[in-house]
Amino acid sequence: MNLWSRIWNSSIGMKMIMGLTGLALVLFTIVHMLGNLQLFLGPHALNRYASFLQNLGELLWLMRGGLLILFVLHVICAIRVTYLNRVARPVRYRRAAQVQLGLAPRTLIYTGVLVFIFLGYHLAHFTLGATDPSFKELHDSLGRHDVHSMVAKGFGDPRAAWSYMIAMILLGYHLSHGIPNLFQSVGWNHPKYQPVLKRWGAILAILIVIGNISMPLAVQLGLVRVVAGGH
Ligand code: HEM
Repeated sequence: MNLWSRIWNSSIGMKMIMGLTGLALVLFTIVHMLGNLQLFLGPHALNRYASFLQNLGELLWLMRGGLLILFVLHVICAIRVTYLNRVARPVRYRRAAQVQLGLAPRTLIYTGVLVFIFLGYHLAHFTLGATDPSFKELHDSLGRHDVHSMVAKGFGDPRAAWSYMIAMILLGYHLSHGIPNLFQSVGWNHPKYQPVLKRWGAILAILIVIGNISMPLAVQLGLVRVVAGGH
């Protein structure tokens, strides 16, 4: 058996990849959120940041490719771990183990699927402008893509704003249990650290939820508006 098929058939190997890719995705989510929070600094700050990313050119495509690989690996390993655990355990033991683990880890696969669906909608919404083609035509007075107006317009629609807020709560739920789990998956599972990881996983997840929800909520409350000229 070669190395890949050994990893593919081992629930520990799959969990390890899931944990490492999960960690990288958490870091992306934090950086993405911090960048997006410049929405509150006004059009100039957010549009400058967005145009900096756009101007990365090939490097941006490399980062997008890396991100896609991380997502795909994370999802494949999640499905594989769920499958390997199902076939490896007799039903009664599985139920007992699930009860012991509590509701949360069992629901990781479901909240994960919902977050994945959100991501498809999110990319169609802001990256492709598929829900409103005018999003891609918005430019500020410096000729940059007016991402501030796009986000303000996008979240001006209550259906979009509320979909994001609900999705962020699901993401928070996924992360609050995924973060402590991922340390366990990569082998950092000393019982002494478990309560600390659980607490900090939950705190980090709550901060990510608050940060992300603050944007659609602020637009809905009229605190962030489309600025004419976008600059
Ligand atoms: C309220 C929360 C969020 C806002 C306001 C937001 C905003 C944006 C915007 C404006 C873009 C498009 C950038 C552009 O093409 O100019 C984008 C892209 C993206 N977002 Fe978000 N985002 C949010 C939450 C999330 C979350 C929670 C995730 C992941 C779990 C995520 C993952 C992505 C990805 C993967 C891209 C594509 C990046 C690229 O291709 O360059 N976003 N986001």
